[in-house]
This record gives sequence, structure tokens and C-alpha cells, in this order.
Amino acid sequence: MAEESQPAVSVVPDDDNEGKFKKSDCVAFYRRQMQGPNLQYRALLDTMVLTEKGARFELLEPDTQTRLVLSVLPCKNDTVKILVDELLPIKARYRVPDVIIGEPQCEQLRVERQTTDSVTLSWSSGRHQVHVWHFPFRVEILCDDEVMVTFNSKGKLWFETLQERPSELQEGPSSLLWQETFKQFVDIKANGPSSIGADFCLHGFSHVYGLPEHADSLQLGDTGDGKPYRLYNLDVFGYELYNRLGLYGSVPLLVAHKLDRTLGVFWLNASETFVNVHHSPTDHQDDQTPPVKRRRVQPQTDVHWLSESGVIDCVVLLGPSPQQLFSQYAQLTGYQALPPLFALGYHQCRWNYNDEADVKAVDAGFDRHNIPYDVIWLDIEHTDGKRYFTWDPVLFPEPVGLQRHLEKKKRKLVIINDPHIKADPNWSLYCEARDGGHFVKDREGQLYQGSCWPGVSCYLDFSRPATRAWYSRCFALDKYKGSTPSLFVWNDMNEPSVFDGPEQTMPKDVVHYGGWEHRELHNLYGFYQHMATAEGLITRSGGSERPFVLSRSFFAGSQRFGAVWTGDNVASWQYLKISIPMLLSLSVVGIVFCGADVGGFVQDPDPELLVRWYQAAALQPFFRGHSAKVTKRREPWLFGEKVTAAIRTVIQQRYCLLPYWYTLFHQAHTSGLPPLRPLWVEFSRDQSTFAVDNQYMIGGALLACPVTEPGLQEIKVLLPGSGEIWYDVQSAKAHKGGKTLSLPVTLDTVPVFQRGGSVVCRSVGSGSCTAELQQLPLCITVALNSQGAADGDLYLDDGHSFDYRDRKSFCLRRFSMLSGRLLCRPASEEGASFDCDTVVQSVTVLGVKSKPSTVIVHVSGAKDTSAAFEFVDTCCSVTVSGLSLRVATDWEIQID
Ligand code: GLC
Repeated sequence: MAEESQPAVSVVPDDDNEGKFKKSDCVAFYRRQMQGPNLQYRALLDTMVLTEKGARFELLEPDTQTRLVLSVLPCKNDTVKILVDELLPIKARYRVPDVIIGEPQCEQLRVERQTTDSVTLSWSSGRHQVHVWHFPFRVEILCDDEVMVTFNSKGKLWFETLQERPSELQEGPSSLLWQETFKQFVDIKANGPSSIGADFCLHGFSHVYGLPEHADSLQLGDTGDGKPYRLYNLDVFGYELYNRLGLYGSVPLLVAHKLDRTLGVFWLNASETFVNVHHSPTDHQDDQTPPVKRRRVQPQTDVHWLSESGVIDCVVLLGPSPQQLFSQYAQLTGYQALPPLFALGYHQCRWNYNDEADVKAVDAGFDRHNIPYDVIWLDIEHTDGKRYFTWDPVLFPEPVGLQRHLEKKKRKLVIINDPHIKADPNWSLYCEARDGGHFVKDREGQLYQGSCWPGVSCYLDFSRPATRAWYSRCFALDKYKGSTPSLFVWNDMNEPSVFDGPEQTMPKDVVHYGGWEHRELHNLYGFYQHMATAEGLITRSGGSERPFVLSRSFFAGSQRFGAVWTGDNVASWQYLKISIPMLLSLSVVGIVFCGADVGGFVQDPDPELLVRWYQAAALQPFFRGHSAKVTKRREPWLFGEKVTAAIRTVIQQRYCLLPYWYTLFHQAHTSGLPPLRPLWVEFSRDQSTFAVDNQYMIGGALLACPVTEPGLQEIKVLLPGSGEIWYDVQSAKAHKGGKTLSLPVTLDTVPVFQRGGSVVCRSVGSGSCTAELQQLPLCITVALNSQGAADGDLYLDDGHSFDYRDRKSFCLRRFSMLSGRLLCRPASEEGASFDCDTVVQSVTVLGVKSKPSTVIVHVSGAKDTSAAFEFVDTCCSVTVSGLSLRVATDWEIQID
């Protein structure tokens, strides 16, 4: 298809961010709520109705005569849902669909006490209570008689009830309620003012996390500086650092942690949202009382949520442990999809690999340089004129041949597929979408058109189930010409990005399925595309194969569909550094398969930065090198042998560690625990870890502290937990926990420590891609704690299908060591049917007290005393080698 001439609209994004995005003070609903009158809501306690689904009360604000209905629903897994809607709405308000999985299992409430001032309801044998106060209206949630959370503690409950549109809007402030102007853009609000807000007091908490996506530190700061966290999905090229403006995705989950409890507040709203966080007492509190006389004040964090639209629908997750909190949140919004194994390998991307010969040459480069990788990616230029689902006929004439070429080496191809569709009446896919009613409309009911890569484009309405089904079918192998089962997908620009739209996104008055305005569901747009794409890949395989889809935009629950990355970062040390808190923030809110573009997308990294970035990203969940169109080529072998060797080493190490990563993904998939963890998740009672965001845990066993500064000669690493032992993975040297270590650093140093008490399985050798890896034997590292004990799990399956789920075809084993005896046993009764030949070739035990005299291996009752072993006294380790022990059978090794 030939490129047509384009109308004179902006077809390239404006890369100057200054003034392009709104600050909170120019957002009308935010100003209204922050400056609005103090409302005096009352709970009308005599309207209480108790059902098996919780309690319901009417609320009244006497001055404005606003009548609301409050529902409090305690659930079986220690969560409490709080819902506030209008009592008598003139029409239904938007409630976020498709994010929450399953029906909540409600608990029956019992009235404990009732007076004219308040009512106390309890559940779970009285362990949990809610206390609803008449005036000032508030709801307290108590665990074991201690107030954990108070809803409306500061009286910020705000609910703009829907009104009929006045027949004529007079000039003046009230007309501003029905329309809002930003730069040249006028937003006409079909429903007028509809914003909501509420505050929560988190008693005893001063450390809070979550609310991605922001290029900011892991701990949420106090927003008393007038800079709230904004949740509004936007395409922000080369985003500013340490900034609370919205980026590509949003997860409205805030996680709070203190020594003995972790809890969460989930605010289920997909419209533009701001969050103010206030910590008290703050360090700089201006208190004249001498410290000795000061009453010990309990710290607290107040969190104020403000959304443009919808209803108040929130869930308080009561933990109490970080593990329980992750599990509660996963039960609510879904578990991380188990990725196919290849997706955990290394991905090589660039905007663009020019043509088929270029792709083949890069692929061959990896083999030539002995660097493993699994996937090569094609950006927008692979298409015919930015028409997704097509191929450029000159540059990519034989896409099937190309995929077969890669598939022979068990490698995959990922292609980009954005949500805008070129408005080209000569293109059948466009016509099909238009005729099927799959595009969003403007407020006059015409097809909405905006500009993106192809020029004038229409935007698919992914909120419409029929559109998602249609789009999913477009990935069928017979429909998507040139695709094969080894092609996977990348959804980009799905905030959605509209080059000529307000804040470079879709106007809020665009209309979706069901007549809903875009403002109601803006933050869900990318979530829905991700969902439809993943569904398309599953359906294309007849339901048997796991999909892989990377999305730039996301919302709560996107973890069910695949991976995300942190968008258009820059090749500088600061962006390498910020990638760690950004990925940790995503991890604590369930979006655990995440990564940042290695090397930085914009600009050219110097070789030292590139090496350090590979070292860090090899220790992060999604591992992809990517670079913008105008950057210099940066395949790992283009910077001289020293750099190639350094990059090769860390990619190979990543591949060796994949049995461990895959096990962690299985754990995320089944328990909600993220593979990447802030230190406080593992050391929840060690205050020194609460603010750390330059180090993290990979699972429970490995601590990583990537180097993120140039020319560094020494790095300080916090080794938490007095009583812990940490083993340097590079040298096997043991260090005591509860202190900060100064570690000398060269370009090859990647500070990683294994925690005493853990077992980590690695592959022997890395192979050329993950498929080869599955044939390789394992070596096991047992790191003993101070009691001489350790344990750890290993999960294996076929790496690509749903048989692990449908046929329980997997293998889950536990290695545990105590008193010199290492056992290999099943970790679960399930999963026996997976035919697994993987063998353990060697076992290294770190932290043994003295040189052993014998090593005896027992397999199925038979004894073997001939095992070769070596003792290294400098680091007190014993390596038993030359083994061939099937992981699927029970065995033990006795080291005396
Ligand atoms: C966006 C993406 C980037 C991609 C480019 C071209 O900027 O974030 O990763 O390469 O679009 O598709």
C-alpha cells in the first residue's frame, strides 16, 4: 500500500514537556475540592441495614442536602470494602468493571454496641471491628481493639452529585463546572461536575509506598509542598525525574508499613486522580515543648484521594504481613500471569531493525559473540505505513521466513501493535473496524480522529467487549498474514497517546461503549488493550499456549496480561538509578513483570553506563535493550572486547539464574509475592531497611545492589538483619548482617549476596537461549544460616503451555539442609505428572564449619560413598561435584 499525503496535522509528538502537562492547580475538580467548604456529613445510624453482604447506611450533608449511601463490606481474606454512591442518582455513575476478579467472599457482621453516636460491628469472632460514627461522620477499622484506619478522619468526604444540565449556561463560575479549558483544548463535561474524594488516616504508619507510575523514590513523600501524586496515564517522552506528575500507567494502591503490620488502601477509580500524602508528626514539626516533656505522639499518615468522576469504591487490605497483603491484593485484582520461559530471557529491541537482513545479522551477532538471547523486536517501521497487522513489503517481504529462521534457533519475534488505526478507507482492517463500530466517537457522535504515528487515526474502543473480541481475532494466524506462533506482541502508545490531543492524550469528552465518557475510564484504556492482545494470542493457539505481551500503559490488574516497562527513559546515570525505585514501586502493587529500557531509550550511553545498565537489568524481571530511532547502534559487541565480555558475563549469569527466576514467577503467580522486593518486605521488622531503594531482594534469597554511579571504586551495601549471614555471590565470602559493608568495585563487580538459610538453583552454563537451558543440568548453592540450616524451592514445567494449570504438569521440589544433611523432596503434593529429566550436577554448601571427612549420597534407599568433593577453606565451602541426581526423585546428601 502506498503512503498517502497526510493532512496538515501534527504527526510527530511535541517533545518539549514544559507546559504540555497540567499541574494540579490548573485542574478544576482538584481546585474545587481543595478549596471547597468543609462539609459536615452525618451517618444516619437508624438507616442501618445489615445483610449477608455487610452493612449499609445513609449519609446526609445538611447544608447541601447531599444524600449518599455507604456500604461497608468485610471480606473473608481480611479486607474491608467501603463503597459510597449517591442515594438517589439521576443516572448511574461509572463503576470500574473488569479489574476485580471474582465475587468477594463477605463476612457476616454482628452488632456489638449501638448508641446514638455510633455503632460497632464485628466479624471474624470479634477480632475485627468497624466503628461507624454519626457526627463527625467517620468509619474506624479496628484489629484486636486497635484502630488501624479511619475513613473520613479529616472530614474530606466529597461527592458531587449528578445534576441535569441547565438549559442555558450563564457566563460565570457555574459554567466552568460544565466545561474546562486547557491551552487550546475545551473539555465539555456531559455530566457536569462529578468529582469525589475521601481521606484515610493510617494510624501508626509513617512509611508508605506504591501509587505508580512516577519517576520518584520508593517511599512516598509528604505532599505538603502542593505537589500531589497524579494518576493519569500519559505519554511523557524523556520524563522529568523526582516528579509526581502522571506517567504511562496507574495503580491506585497505597501500601503502608510499620514494624508489626503492613496494610493497603486500594482506590478503585479509573478517572484522573490525585493523592495527597501527609505524614505526622513530621521531623520538622515546630513544637516548643522540650522533647523530654513531649507526650509520645503516635505517627500517622493521612492520605487524601481525589478523583474526577465515578464512585468511592475502595478496599482496605489489613495484612498484617507483607506476604498476606500481596496475597489479599492478588485475590482482588489477579495474580501475575506465568510468563513463558523465553520471556524471562534477554530481549533485543531497537527502533528500528531496518529489514530482514538486519534482523538476521543481529541474531547471528549474538551467536558469534556467544551471548544468549531469546527475542528480537520490531518497532513501528516494520509495518506498511504504520498500519499494524501489516508488513512493509520492501523491508519485510518474507516475515514468515524470518520467523522460521529465528524459530530454528528457538528464538522469537516480537512486533509492535499500537491502539491507533490509520484512517485509511482503502485499508480493509480500518474499514472492518469502522463498520463494526469498533472506534471511539467524539461527543457529536462522529468517529473521533487524532494524530499518531500513521497521521490521522481512529482509536479502537477496547472498553467494548465486542471490540476486544474483534481485535483478539485479528491475531489469528490465518487473519494476521505473515504471523506464526513464534510471533508475540508489544502494545505501545496506549495511554492512549494522541499527538494533537490535550496533554498528548485523548480528550475526556470522547465517547466509549455504553455512552461513557473517556474521562470515566481513561486510566483503563491500556489495560483493556493489553487484555485483548493477551486473549488474542491465547485464542490463536486454541487456548494451549501462554501469551507474551508487553504494554506501556497499565492499571491495577494488568499483571494478569503480561509485562510492562517504564517507557521513554534517557541514557544517563540518573535514569539508571531511578529505574530501581520505579520497578520496586510497580512490584509492590502487583505489576511484577517489569523492566526499564537497558541503556536508556533516548540518547547514547557511554560504554561504562551501558555495562552498568546491563548489570542492573540482568537482575530485574523484564530484561530488554531498546533505543530510539536517532540513537547510535548499541548491540552488545559494538564497544570493544572488554565491554562485550562484561555484557556477555551478566547475560550469561542471568540465563544461569533462570531456574530461580522462573521459580519466583511461579510463586508470584500462585501467592502474589513479587520476585523483586524492597528490603522491608523481607526484613519487615528492621527499620533500617524501610527507606532503602538502591538495593532490593530478588526473591527471599538474593540481595542486589547494582552500581549506578560512574567511576565508582567502592560501594556501600546495607546487609540487613543482625544474626543473618550474607555470602558474596562473586567471592563466596561470608559477612555478618546488621551492618553496612564497604565493597571495592571494578567494572566487573555486580554486588549480589546470598542470604544464609537459602538455597538457589542455577543452570550449569547458559546455552544460547532459554530453550537450550531446559536441557542443562543444575548446580545448587546452599547458603547456611547460623543454625547450619537452609531451604529453597525449584519449579519446573514445559516453559510454554498451560499444561501446568490444566494437567498439573509441573514439578515443584524443595531442597532443605539441616545438620549436614541435604534433602530433595516434593514441595507440593500436586504436579507429579511432569516428566522431568533435569539433573543436579553439583551442590555447593557455603558456611560449613570444617572440612568434611565423607560425603554420602542416598538415592531411593541406595547409598553411594564415592561422591567427589572439594573443600575451600578460605570461604568455608564444600562443593560436591560429578553428580547426576534427577530433581524429580527423592535423594539426600550427607556431609560429615
Ligand atoms: C514510543 C515507545 C518506544 C518506541 C517508539 C516507537 O516512544 O515508548 O519504546 O520505540 O514509541 O514505536
